[in-house]
Amino acid sequence: MGEIMPMLLMASWHQCAQFLFILSMSIPTAIRAQQPIGIFDSGVGGLTVAAAVARHLPHESIVYFGDTAHMPYGEKSVEAIQHYSQRIADFLLALPCKCIIIACHTASAAAAAILAKHIGSRALLLDVIQPVVSAVNEAGIAQVGIISTARTYKSGVYPAGLRQYNPALRVAAKPTPSLAQMIEEGLHRAPKVMAAVAEHYLSDPLFDDIEGLILACTHYPLIKTHIARYYEQRQGTAPKIFDSTDTVARALAHALAQEQLICPNTEQLPIHRFFVSDYTAAFEQTAALFFEQNIRLQHYPIWD
Ligand code: DGL
Repeated sequence: MGEIMPMLLMASWHQCAQFLFILSMSIPTAIRAQQPIGIFDSGVGGLTVAAAVARHLPHESIVYFGDTAHMPYGEKSVEAIQHYSQRIADFLLALPCKCIIIACHTASAAAAAILAKHIGSRALLLDVIQPVVSAVNEAGIAQVGIISTARTYKSGVYPAGLRQYNPALRVAAKPTPSLAQMIEEGLHRAPKVMAAVAEHYLSDPLFDDIEGLILACTHYPLIKTHIARYYEQRQGTAPKIFDSTDTVARALAHALAQEQLICPNTEQLPIHRFFVSDYTAAFEQTAALFFEQNIRLQHYPIWD
């Protein structure tokens, strides 16, 4: 593949309601379609995004990094999340990845703008918030609920981004602390616990009458069925649920196609590699559930 125009895929998304290709005047960087896609999250939650990418773009190789040593990002400071994100981006760039997906809403909210600057024209950068904001806008609903980590909630980036499209949209946001850790620990497989958790968070009158619900954390797609069941039992039908799996994979496919960076279909099978900053055997089992197939996690001591 030839050289592409240096660019960044919209990262500082809250400054604009569209995907932006920011053209830099620096020397064009050669990015090749055969390079892998780098995906990172605080833990294994971003594997829900990676699984969707593997489904939509079956010839792409993926390098995944889960910063399990620092999970949960939702309870960390903005500065800490920015620092971790830049170090992880450096790791992914060194491989070198043609594109980096911030597969974490918390890191997207806290670090997308700083990462856009840091990465410059070395790779495409995609966050998980903008594609979801676009999907909600396209659905044309009048009232939406959002559940997220405390840090994403505090950032206010979702309400701000949504209202750029539709100032009249009624937005009800609620932090759901500890939910990501509960899922990472496998509690989404305990139906009674999840029914109680759904009741606890979603029975808030704030969410009465919502037509859509944003799962603003990459761990939450694993409890999508519990959420739908909660609503079906309560009111017969569930609001439309938005998450960052297929939505993000489609946005990625679009961005890669636009830059002629889709990996061609060759005889070679894609190679997926999975790294975590802190390893336990239990993660591997959980990770397999998130990625929807068996995987081998490798410990990469990025912080040593
Ligand atoms: N998966 C992360 C997200 O999408 C949240 C988990 C955490 O708190 O680290 O926000």
